[in-house]
Amino acid sequence: MKITKICCIGAGYVGGPTMAVIAQKCPHIKVTVVDLNEERIAAWNDENVDNIPIYEPGLSAIVAEARGRNLFFSTAVEQAIDEAQVIFISVNTPTKTYGKGKGMAADLKYIELCARQIARVAKDNKIVVEKSTLPVRTAEAIKSILDNTGNGVEFQILSNPEFLAEGTAVTDLLHPDRILIGGDTTVEGQKAIQSLVDVYANWVPADKILTTNVWSSELSKLTANAFLAQRISSINALSELCEKTGADVNEVARAIGMDSRIGPKFLKASVGFGGSCFQKDILNLVYIAKSYGLNEVADYWEQVIIMNDHQKKRFSNTIVQTLYNTVADKKITFLGWAFKKDTNDTRESAAIYVADDLINEQAKIAVYDPKVSRKKVLADLDYLETRTAESNMKSISSYEDAYTACEGAHAIAVLTEWDEFVQYDWQKIYDSMHKPAFVFDGRNLLDKAALEQIGFVYQAIGS
Ligand code: NAD
Ligand code: UGA
Repeated sequence: MKITKICCIGAGYVGGPTMAVIAQKCPHIKVTVVDLNEERIAAWNDENVDNIPIYEPGLSAIVAEARGRNLFFSTAVEQAIDEAQVIFISVNTPTKTYGKGKGMAADLKYIELCARQIARVAKDNKIVVEKSTLPVRTAEAIKSILDNTGNGVEFQILSNPEFLAEGTAVTDLLHPDRILIGGDTTVEGQKAIQSLVDVYANWVPADKILTTNVWSSELSKLTANAFLAQRISSINALSELCEKTGADVNEVARAIGMDSRIGPKFLKASVGFGGSCFQKDILNLVYIAKSYGLNEVADYWEQVIIMNDHQKKRFSNTIVQTLYNTVADKKITFLGWAFKKDTNDTRESAAIYVADDLINEQAKIAVYDPKVSRKKVLADLDYLETRTAESNMKSISSYEDAYTACEGAHAIAVLTEWDEFVQYDWQKIYDSMHKPAFVFDGRNLLDKAALEQIGFVYQAIGS
């Protein structure tokens, strides 16, 4: 089947950029991205493309090119489902906060709602694509819903997990390491796979499009995230040992990364990984392993999360200890709040947890992040429910520029590796701070020697 109409349910960090790139690369396909969130859709449709709801380098230009031509953002979910031959499900799959599997399993309620809605609306055969990250064997549940509640329509379910990283989403989508498509081994299943392969083949070389069975595809996504996160926890575990022994974690990472079997990427020690996916996907993997009675497998992967939590705690403890065991009423400036550079996403950012710890110690936190608003910072802290919104408001302030944020501070903590931080006039910042002036570099971003030369007491992760 030649695909000319695609619908994507979920206009978030995955649905928005992924569909924008499909639309740009396939002008013959009408791509409609739908969402229940009216505000989000309105922002995607904002006349000024700089106001689209997701900040990703290069994304606004692609949206500007394709929007209104063959890329559409809408809240008319049913109409888009009805029209499409292929429906991508790209809704959120957060960790469950209630009931069985609370705090571990993926909450599939949004997925199920989508499946039920598709089943209700569809009047002709459709390919349903799992784009969201899902537990292995979810396709079975989707199929059961579609087959038992549909209007006698045939559905093919494909798994096509997304591997983009935020901050580099556009490059990752334009030049993916691989596209993974899992489907049934039946003739119909293979035809559906081929239809989707043909879409990606408009810009992805054939040898990078991998096809598997559905279960391998679903599990590969969780596995990829678990392996990536494991590398960060591994290097972070060693960063603590480096601090005790006089080794330097950057030097260790470089030395091991030159071994072609290990490779240099994802070995940057940090205050801990954040983002909406690593933790949730590993917890999900742990839950699945436990549900099959594989306790050793579950414990092995759970340690990645335990290590990450430890790293965040260790960072805030170091700040308190170094500042003479008290941060009460001291101004500590956070450079960065997003979970990594080049994104406005703050989900599970280490900054949130470090701020929470320091506010518990009665510190006053000043935040500067080039892409994150005060409203978002406060919402993130309120979400933890550690204290009242009023109390958070008193403990945290946020600034439009870094220099003002640093004025009168006792210490600076670098939480996100934004490039601009390196370019600052650090002498000017030093002059405006309390002395001794401390920098706690949670990203090993700044030049230690240059900062020490100015007079800062500089502490990095793992050296
Ligand atoms: P997101 O929260 O940014 O977006 C999800 C969107 O789906 C929201 O706008 C929400 O309103 C919408 N939605 C939920 N239920 C809906 C329904 N029934 N009908 C219409 N819209 C609905 O989430 P995201 O970051 O885009 O992640 C989506 C999925 O992709 C998750 O499973 C995630 O694990 C996976 N993933 C995310 C990334 C990433 O970098 N963020 C990368 C790869 C995979
Ligand atoms: C990650 C994966 O890299 C993507 O392949 C995947 O598609 C995505 O999760 C997902 O499923 O959501 P993302 O979380 O957007 O992407 O960003 P990463 O670049 O992986 O960074 C995650 C966290 O790890 C960030 O907080 C980052 O600062 C941290 N990190 C990364 C380190 O601390 N050290 C490193 O060496 C690399």
